[in-house]
Order: sequence, then structure tokens, then C-alpha cells
Amino acid sequence: MSAEESVDDTGIDPRLLARLLGYLRPYARWMLLTLALITAASAVQQAGPFLTKIAVDDYILPGDAEGLGWVISVYASLLVLQFGISYAQGWATSMVGQWAMRDVRAQIFAHLQRLPLRFYDRTPIGRLMAHNTSDVDALNELFTDGVVSVLSDIFTIFAILGYIFYMDVKLGLLTSAALPLCFIAIVWLQQRTFRADRVARTRFARFTASLQEVISGMEIVQLFGCEQRSADRFAEANDAYLDARLQRTFYHSLYFPFMELCGVGVMALVLWYGGGQVLREQIEWGVLVAMLQYVTRFFMPIRDIAERYSTLQMAMASSERIFELLDYEPEPVGGGYRAERVRGEIEFRDVSFAYEGEDWVLREASFRASPGQSIALVGATGAGKSTIINLISRFYEIQRGQILLDGVDVREWDVEALRRHIGVVQQDVFLFAGDIEGNIGLDRTSRDRVEQAARDVNADRFIATLPKGLAHQVAERGVSFSAGQRQLLAFARALAAEPDILVLDEATANIDTETEMWIQEAVDKLMDGRTSIVVAHRLSTIRNADKILVMHHGRIREEGRHEELLAQQGIYYRLHQLQYSEE
Ligand SMILES: Nc1ncnc2c1ncn2[C@@H]1O[C@H](COP(=O)(O)OP(=O)(O)OP(=O)(O)O)[C@@H](O)[C@H]1O
Ligand SMILES: [Mg+2]
Repeated sequence: MSAEESVDDTGIDPRLLARLLGYLRPYARWMLLTLALITAASAVQQAGPFLTKIAVDDYILPGDAEGLGWVISVYASLLVLQFGISYAQGWATSMVGQWAMRDVRAQIFAHLQRLPLRFYDRTPIGRLMAHNTSDVDALNELFTDGVVSVLSDIFTIFAILGYIFYMDVKLGLLTSAALPLCFIAIVWLQQRTFRADRVARTRFARFTASLQEVISGMEIVQLFGCEQRSADRFAEANDAYLDARLQRTFYHSLYFPFMELCGVGVMALVLWYGGGQVLREQIEWGVLVAMLQYVTRFFMPIRDIAERYSTLQMAMASSERIFELLDYEPEPVGGGYRAERVRGEIEFRDVSFAYEGEDWVLREASFRASPGQSIALVGATGAGKSTIINLISRFYEIQRGQILLDGVDVREWDVEALRRHIGVVQQDVFLFAGDIEGNIGLDRTSRDRVEQAARDVNADRFIATLPKGLAHQVAERGVSFSAGQRQLLAFARALAAEPDILVLDEATANIDTETEMWIQEAVDKLMDGRTSIVVAHRLSTIRNADKILVMHHGRIREEGRHEELLAQQGIYYRLHQLQYSEE
């Protein structure tokens, strides 16, 4: 079994359980109420057979009809009482569970927003989604079903034993001796079923993942004639899933017959011994009648506990994942430095940076952008241009050197204040579900500013062609927009925030000449009057820059204006020849 298939073997960790139960602390009073209700419910529920004993021995056998009527009415009132208690208990338990769930979800979400990008680079989105949905749901089962039901089952067993021992100690000892055997066997079978179930589910996930991949990549599959390879992989996943299901069926089919067997066995034992005792007049008839009812009642809670144990384990695995996430160190909030406005001076001093270990992506990079200056970053793909841009906003921590904004180290800046001064347009534009206005203003800018920003970057023209204009709903992350249109929206978004510094990662996508012209105009306007650092792919942007930094394998190798760099006949010259010779 692979590691992911054996997670259920972890058992129940008391420390984890304690931490989980901590979420119930705010609702401690409700929990106490629940416990009281469970105790009452078990006692009342198990009084039934005992009442039949009284009915048989004290009224039926002696032939006291009036007394029998009295017992029957007590029985009926107990049923009503039990209904009321169970209802109240179920309600209280669910509410507490739901409240705790809400708290966990809120905590996860708040934490997600504070996690550094480094974390998101490594964690698949699907997994994070699962934490906030299915893992939390598993916890719900723990809070409501798990803990409370197990307690309730245990109380029930004790209530039954209590009544039995009260009636006859020997019969009590006999049943208590038979039960553990059944209990162990049932739990064992349930465990096996559950484990097989887990394996089946993991394999099912793997099999749907491979199915999804093939379907979404069908074009490539058919284009490159990979049908056989896909079919083989699918068949493999399919068969593995089948195996797991068959195993589960094996144990699961044993489970119920075995329960019956246990029930009948204990029943026979009671009949044999109890019947003998009655005939020898050692115990009363009513005791035997009550016993036969109690024996069948034992198995419900035992089966429940066996099932809950699996639920508990599953919830443990979920909570482990949730706590792992919650324990991941959040993004630093930085120092306390804030400033209302900045001049816009940016300096890199011998900055070395690696995303991972010693894989240096930037090596001793140094440059300075004076206030109002525009800097163009150029270099081959993977040279580290986008990295520089990410570092200015302190999305990652550098290992060596210093990055300064207005002469203050970014680590001394309050992160939020720092980012408020910097308008970033990334290479890949992300559009939220919602309307265009919300996507530009991010719901914190007035409509006027949004309109102004859209006009300033020439986005208004294409927005006007949309049926609802600014109220147009963005579908599916904006797939219906062209790359150029998305860029324009991103420009508008950056401008609407009125940043002092502009950081722009020009998209490399091919854009039609008309949009290209608008974009060019927009970029000029964006850069106007503010310090700008632009990863430039357009020759015009590069030419207009005050300074060009040429990056090569994480180092800044050349620095200067367009003509100067061309004259050097170095890296820039070669890049220029390769990329722009046709323009
Ligand atoms: N989040 C990340 N985690 C790990 N490595 C990364 C990450 N982002 C980028 N890298 C690596 O860092 C190096 C520089 O990447 P960067 O994105 O800065 O290049 P770039 O100059 O912007 O390239 P392009 O012109 O293609 O956008 C690459 O080798 C890349 O594989
Ligand atoms: Mg890049």
C-alpha cells in the first residue's frame, strides 16, 4: 500500500483530539446540556424492557389488570419523554457541530489569506479547496456524529448493563463475558471494510483524475496518436479500483451475517441459562422476557461504535491535514514602517534569491531606479525578470542583500502599506467572477475612478462594445476576452489603485496591431510621472525606458540606454537582433 492509502492506520491521536475539542470550548454550555440529555435519553430508552419485567411479574402473572394498565401508561409516557429528549439532544448536537464548523472554515480562510506565495507555489489548489470543504465536513461528522454518538452508545451499553445487573447479577456477568468477543470481532470487520473503502476511494480519485486529464487533453491525445497509451493507463486505474471495491465487498458482506450470528449466539446463551434458571425458579419470568429484549438492544450501539471509530479516524486524518495547514507559518507582516506618499526610489543591493534551496534565480543583482525613472528589464525566458518584480512587493523573502523603497528596506515596511504604493500588472492577468467594474476597482474604488482608469488605459473602447458595459459579468476567469483585452483591464486595475510605483510584466502573447497600439498608449500613460519597472517585450517600451537592465541567468549583465547597449554589441545586441530584427 502506498503512503496515501494507509493514512487511516494512524489511529486516534489524543493530542489532535484535544485540539479539535478545543473548537467546542466556546459552546461548552451547550455541550454540557447535550451530555445531560444523552444520559437521560439512554436511561429512559432502556427502561422499556425493565417495565415489561414489572408488567409480567407483578401484574400479568398475578392477573392484576388495573396495575397492568398503569404500567402501560408509564411505558407510553416514557416513549413521549424519550422522543422529546432525543429531539432536543439531536438539535443541540447539530447546532454545536455547525457552529464549530463555521469557526474552523473562517479560521482556515483567514489563514489562507496570510500565507506566503511560496506556500501556494507548492500546494495544489485542489488540495486547499478540499481542506476548506471535505476535510471540514469530516470534522463535522466528528463533532456531531463521532464524539456525541460514541458517548451516547457507551451510555446506552452501560444503561442496559445497569438494568440487567439490577435484575440478576449472574445473567449480567454472563452477557458481559460474551459481549467483548462480539465487540472485538465486529470492530475488526468494520475496520477492514473501512480500510478497503479508503483504498477504493483513493483509487477512484486517481482514476477520475486520469479520466479528466484524458478528456481535457483529448485534442493532444488524438493529435499525437496517444490513444493506446491513454487506454492502457485508464484500464490500469480502472482495474485497480475494481480490486479495491471487491475487497471492500468481501468484508462488508461478512459484516451483517456476523452481527446476526453474534446476536443469535448471545440470545441462545441467555435462553439456555436464563430458561434453566426460570424453571428452577431462581429468577422470575419477567427477567427472562426483559433479557431477551436487552440482548437484541446491545448490538445497535456496538455496531454504531464500530462505525464511529472509522469516522473518527477519518476525521483525524482530515484534522491532521487542516492543522498542518493552520500551522504553516503565515506571511510576515513586516516592520511598522508606513508612509502616506513615496518618492518612488527603488534599489536592489546585491540581491541573491532562490525559490528553492540553492537554486539561485537571482545572483548579486544590483540596480537603482530614481524617482520617476522608467526601467526596462529584458532577457531570455527564465532569466529572472518576473522574479525581480515579485520581490519588489515582497512576495518572497530574499536570502541575501537588500531591497529598498525610498531608502527603507522592504522588510522594515509594513507589507500592506508597501503593496499599496505599488501597482502590479502581472504576466498572466487574473479576472475574478463578477462584473468588469468590480474587476477594475476591486470593490474599493468609486465608479468614477474606475471609469477614469478605464478611459486612461484605453480599455473604455472595448468595454463600450460589451452589452452591459462595466456591468458585464466576467465568465470563467475571462476566457471570453482576448489576451490584449485582459491586459487592458489589468492596466485599468493597476491605475485605479493610484500607485506611486508601477510594476509591469508585459505579456508575451501575440496581440493584434490595433489593441497593440492601445496597449502601447496605455503603458506610456501608466508610466508617466511614476517610477516604473517594466519587464518589456515591446521594442517601443524598451526604447522609451530611461534605463535598460539586461538579465542573463539571474545576473544583471548590461545596463544602459537602447543605443548605448546596441553599441556595446553584447547580450542586448544579440537579443535585439533575434527578437526585433523584423520590426
Ligand atoms: N514560483 C516559483 N517557484 C520555483 N521556481 C520558480 C518560480 N517562479 C519562477 N521560478 C524559476 O525561476 C527562474 C526565473 O523565472 P522568472 O519567472 O523570473 O523568469 P522570467 O525572466 O520572468 O521569464 P519569462 O520571460 O518566461 O517570463 C526560472 O528558472 C523559473 O523556473
Ligand atoms: Mg516572466
